[in-house]
Amino acid sequence: PSPGWTVEADVVVVGSGVAGLTLALRYAALDPAARVLVVTKDVLSSGSTRWAQGGIAAVLDPGDTPEEHLSDTLLAGVGLCDTEAVRAMVTEGPDALRRLIATGARFDTDSAGGLQLTREGGHRRDRIVHAGGDATGAEVQRALVQAVRESAIEVIEHALVLDLLKDAEGRAAGVTLHVMGEGERDGVGAVRARAVVLATGGMGQVYAVTTNPVVSTGDGVALALRAGAVVRDLEFVQFHPTVLWLGEEATGQQPLISEAVRGEGAVLVDADGTRFMQGVHELADLAPRDVVAKAIMRRMRETGASHMYLDARHFGEHKWRTRFPTIHAVCLEHGIDPVTQPIPVAPAAHYASGGVRVDLRGRTDVPGLYACGEVACTGVHGANRLASNSLLEGLVFAERIAADIHAVRPAPGTPVPDERPSGLADPRTRPRIQAHMSRGAGVLRGEESLTEVARALLGARWTPVAVEPCTESWEATNLLTVASALVAAARNREETRGSHWREDFPDRNDAWWLGHLDLTLTSEGM
Ligand code: SIN
Repeated sequence: PSPGWTVEADVVVVGSGVAGLTLALRYAALDPAARVLVVTKDVLSSGSTRWAQGGIAAVLDPGDTPEEHLSDTLLAGVGLCDTEAVRAMVTEGPDALRRLIATGARFDTDSAGGLQLTREGGHRRDRIVHAGGDATGAEVQRALVQAVRESAIEVIEHALVLDLLKDAEGRAAGVTLHVMGEGERDGVGAVRARAVVLATGGMGQVYAVTTNPVVSTGDGVALALRAGAVVRDLEFVQFHPTVLWLGEEATGQQPLISEAVRGEGAVLVDADGTRFMQGVHELADLAPRDVVAKAIMRRMRETGASHMYLDARHFGEHKWRTRFPTIHAVCLEHGIDPVTQPIPVAPAAHYASGGVRVDLRGRTDVPGLYACGEVACTGVHGANRLASNSLLEGLVFAERIAADIHAVRPAPGTPVPDERPSGLADPRTRPRIQAHMSRGAGVLRGEESLTEVARALLGARWTPVAVEPCTESWEATNLLTVASALVAAARNREETRGSHWREDFPDRNDAWWLGHLDLTLTSEGM
């Protein structure tokens, strides 16, 4: 649709989680005269960041070193991390965290006033900083939103990004948006900008059961694909091992039971109360996330159960209320008292380790288009993200991108009309896509199940009636695009590695598969 209004900016940031807001603040600090605009699909405080529980991993303990954080991250990533990207994250992370604290975020401290550090899966040191016990993301989001509100950064809320605008040379020159109910900026409009940053978060809503909020529909990855950018490692969707199990029929966003609960001593047991992580990995219940999710799935299959249990009754009432107040409250809300009962848990889609391929400065293959946070594939996560590295990645790469845009100072471009035909998906396909993806492309997948999903997704493209352009149809279109890309990548990778678990290729195959799968919209199978 053609834009009904136009806004000018120097930098437009799409998304308002830790990556987007940090980037906007850091760029505004580097170039106070610049017009920085944040556009966000819901309100400024929505998105995935505020749901993060565990924390932010950073080397702060005098006994810890960046080399050890690097080594834990590379091990979790099963051979597919980009070592230089990881090195940048672990060495620049502590200072980026200090700047977040200077921005106003308050983390939990010990009696001496030092930051409290805990442990999560795959970490061999205590290096997770947390806030409000288990409400780290909420505090990070609060502090960043307040800082943005107090700055000169402009914000447009209820703005779903549609497509990238490019100039005649193919450089990013802005984005089109669909805005709902924002006065003179209602309906489809355009932002013209010298640099465009995607910070749209993840795509967990492509599955029927996920920890991701309803807005996580892969909008940035879908936009990047339509704009001709390369996406990488989409097959590596991380399934969080311990998501509150609310019954077979439960769908949509489900409550997370943070890995920090295991970090503080909770153990996984089956319905008989038998522990099953000992002997599976040297770190037992604190093994990397993919190892734990697989062990849970195996035990579920062996015992015919729909879920397992997380036992932390020994914490007692006081510890539950003070250290994990959010999780305690959510369990009680669902009729489970974790002080007296083991918590029913099962794996659910949690994090896209892959995304839009970027370099060490967050640059995509389209000049002037950057990607930051979960939407991006910087290479720091490889085949399986290490716990609490995601907020950290957002902080570090936001600063890198701000510095790059400031150094390059891209010239303003004049958008040229995009003549490509665009089809829209019927919003009613959304639950069908999610059900197919969970059934055939979830924790466990194989050629047969993936082929079935691919066929179903092809069928979903066909709409018998004209589809009205609206938020629901654009989101369904984006879900269909990213689901198709994910399935194409998952079919291609004929091995099991990290969070990609092929039943028909159960082993890791370093001879063939120690590399990445890069896709564009024209790649086979999409
Ligand atoms: C958790 O608290 O277990 C989630 C943290 C993360 O996904 O990094």
